[in-house]
Amino acid sequence: MAHEVRGVVALAKGQPVSLETIIVPDPGPGEALVKIQACGVCHTDLHYREGGISDDYPFFLGHEAAGVVEAVGEGVTDVAPGDFVVLNWRAVCGACRACLRGRPQYCFATHNAKQKMTLADGTALSPALGIGAFAEKTLVAAGQCTKVDPGASPAAVGLLGCGVMAGLGAAMNTGGVTRGDSVAVIGCGGVGDAAIAGAGLAGATTIIAVDVDDRKLEWARRFGATHTVNSRETDAVEAIRDLTGGFGADVVIDAVGRPETYRQAFYARDLAGTVVLVGVPTPEMTLELPLLDVFGRGGALKSSWYGDCLPSRDFPMLVSLYQQGRLDLDAFVSETITLDDVESAFDKMHRGEVLRSVVIL
Ligand SMILES: NC(=O)c1ccc[n+]([C@@H]2O[C@H](COP(=O)([O-])OP(=O)(O)OC[C@H]3O[C@@H](n4cnc5c(N)ncnc54)[C@H](O)[C@@H]3O)[C@@H](O)[C@H]2O)c1
Ligand SMILES: [Zn+2]
Ligand SMILES: [Zn+2]
Repeated sequence: MAHEVRGVVALAKGQPVSLETIIVPDPGPGEALVKIQACGVCHTDLHYREGGISDDYPFFLGHEAAGVVEAVGEGVTDVAPGDFVVLNWRAVCGACRACLRGRPQYCFATHNAKQKMTLADGTALSPALGIGAFAEKTLVAAGQCTKVDPGASPAAVGLLGCGVMAGLGAAMNTGGVTRGDSVAVIGCGGVGDAAIAGAGLAGATTIIAVDVDDRKLEWARRFGATHTVNSRETDAVEAIRDLTGGFGADVVIDAVGRPETYRQAFYARDLAGTVVLVGVPTPEMTLELPLLDVFGRGGALKSSWYGDCLPSRDFPMLVSLYQQGRLDLDAFVSETITLDDVESAFDKMHRGEVLRSVVIL
């Protein structure tokens, strides 16, 4: 039996999203049907709508979600109907070259549902990051469901499903931030603020927030920024150097993903420091750097997909820190909205009015 639900779809490049009828099949082998309770609006959803990720329209948007498993297909043993889960886009395969070397966080063959969800006319949908959760129900691979404590707020912990995990992990996993480090984070949206929180959890003592919007800088302090820099008014590289004894930060995280912010990150780090690119560039962006500077400054230039997280390891741990009051996930939820409001949530994101709008179902 298929399920008919309402879901948010980007039908064509650059067009406003629309609410469409979506046909969700019953779970087949290895799949799970999940009743969505909450799903955050991530900048990546907007990248999809604008054609920045691929041209595989129509996209079924939404991917930062928590919900309850409604049904599972044949052979599924890790989750069962009634389980409270955060959806992830890294259901590791256990068999690829990364998994076999004990590095499942880099899995090159992650699982998604095999069956297609479709529009009412049968057109197959491309679910954002293999999820598609701006809807009452979605179909995923069972491994995309990570069980967490059912006492936690769906709106808050659903954010671990993408942006907040990406930011936390950019600092804690990819950047390897440790006690006493200085860290600068460029771009203080949901991802950047999570990187700030992650740097704090990892023991950084100087945490510099950089943004072009004063309101964002004010919010960044709530997540643990010790200093703020408005890079529209001040040169970000000089300011970061000034705040770090003239040297630059040990770890600089670019949570915007543009050539100019990457260049700032590159020059604002100390010798032998680390740059982490977690913001997602678009296909036309290029960057030229003197190769001698790349060599001479040493250190590491890294990219962070999903904060190099392993959902089974990181989600329950972070939910526990949240419940202990050590990680304020609620502070990322700027507003709760309905499925009809996703397009206006993109506008608010653009105007810098929100960290996360979260659709509640
Ligand atoms: N790597 C991953 O796995 C992953 C996961 C989720 C999101 N992302 C990406 O992370 C990026 C941030 O996502 P978000 O949801 O936080 O977006 P957002 O739109 O909420 O935040 C972006 C922030 O960057 C600031 N900004 C814009 N241009 C700037 C500039 N030139 N200098 C300094 N600050 C600037 C904005 O004022 C805003 O505060 C996006 O590119 C998104 O696609 C990556
Ligand atoms: Zn694998
Ligand atoms: Zn996302």
